[in-house]
Amino acid sequence: MNIILVGAQWGDEGKGKIVDILAKDADYIVRYQGGNNAGHTVVAGNKEYIFHLIPSGILHKGKICCIGNGVVIDPAILLKELRDLRFAGINLTNRLKISSLAHVILPYHKILDQLRETKRAHKIGTTGRGIGPCYADKTIRCGIRMVDLLNSGVLRDKLKDNLKEKNEIFKKVYKHPGFNFSRIYKEYLNYGRIFSSYICNTQRLLNSAIGEKKDILFEGAQGTFLDIDFGTYPFVTSSSATAGGACIGSGVSPVRINKVIGVAKAYTTRVGEGPFPAEFPSKFAKVIRDKGNEFGATTGRPRRCGWFDSVMVKEAVLLNGISELAITKIDVLEGLKTIKICTAYKYKGKLFREFPADLQALKNSKPVYEEMAGWDKTVPNLCHYQKLHPNVNKYLKKLQDILNAKISIVSVGSSREDTIFLD
Ligand code: GDP
Ligand code: IMO
Ligand code: MG
Repeated sequence: MNIILVGAQWGDEGKGKIVDILAKDADYIVRYQGGNNAGHTVVAGNKEYIFHLIPSGILHKGKICCIGNGVVIDPAILLKELRDLRFAGINLTNRLKISSLAHVILPYHKILDQLRETKRAHKIGTTGRGIGPCYADKTIRCGIRMVDLLNSGVLRDKLKDNLKEKNEIFKKVYKHPGFNFSRIYKEYLNYGRIFSSYICNTQRLLNSAIGEKKDILFEGAQGTFLDIDFGTYPFVTSSSATAGGACIGSGVSPVRINKVIGVAKAYTTRVGEGPFPAEFPSKFAKVIRDKGNEFGATTGRPRRCGWFDSVMVKEAVLLNGISELAITKIDVLEGLKTIKICTAYKYKGKLFREFPADLQALKNSKPVYEEMAGWDKTVPNLCHYQKLHPNVNKYLKKLQDILNAKISIVSVGSSREDTIFLD
């Protein structure tokens, strides 16, 4: 069974936790887009791991983890992640595969990302990790790929060519001194040496695995509404975070995909700028942020919080072909008298039940809520762990009916044990 797992909101839905759970039954786990703007948290035993580039299935012995061609790689971050895992006693021998076609983030990408953001009148809220500029270079065909780090001549020519143009732009537009060729060249050639045994043809590897009836789990980064096409553009990331991105970013054909699972929080969060119709007023946002520890796994920024927006998630179900959902962080809503679900938007006196493409409409939309009774304890009796509070069940049933997708996993805490599988 080949499964794509995607975020159904604005990222940080708990994909890392759910991937770690599902990885038990997979042979390969594949990241297919994004870069180290992602931060995926897995809690195993008493330890918390935050993965930025390495797939969240890596903690399971014997599983092969691939970084696909659609990912953009900052080699320094990848190296740190590898070293941290080794330090934690995780054996990586023959388990990590990096696509030779994946593009590389260079120092000028990161600085450009940050300089552009300072010049913008309407800030995006980028993580500043160089993701956008790296994907831009890929698209305008001057990017440097992992395979290029293995060939000193190719790397020299490409880097020289890039710096010739970029240094002029840095100096003239941004009053920045620009970048020294030799330093970057030496540093990145060295990364090539370090990663040479991991770099391979992952598209061939994955297709051979499918031929041998192995199971592949595709791990999305970001979320549907950060997708470059379908997200709240321009307040999005620069890759295809929706399910289609899994095929492009791995070289696996759509006809090989068996199922798409969406992950959504029981409420909504967003890091960075952009419209957010169901956002809480700031006082209540703080209560939920503190309870849910809603601070970015990559930048530590406070996440904006709001009610569950079923207009959005319904759109995510449609765009990704989601047939099953994992709902996370139900426990964070404990203790509230009433829970709200946004079921429509009101704009210019009219009611909308579909997600608008026009950002102005979204920005000026007022949420329409349905209210439900809350719950005190999500799981009232620990001896009957599979039992949820009746009001939680009512909430989940309501979401299921609105979204027309089966909720198969419910997460009530960050650890593996705090997971309930529904038939
Ligand atoms: P991702 O980017 O989608 O992988 O999500 P993040 O790791 O950035 O953010 C999700 C956060 O919620 C992490 O700190 C998880 O450990 C935590 N988490 C996941 N599921 C649950 C849950 O059911 N309850 C609680 N309280 N925390 C959870
Ligand atoms: P995971 O995989 C939440 C947001 C940033 C910013 C916008 C653009 O952990 O769910 P970028 O660095 O791509 O230029 O940032 O996208 N963003 C995320 N928000 N979770 C993420 O990843 C995100 N990756 C990017 O905050 O608003
Ligand atoms: Mg995250």
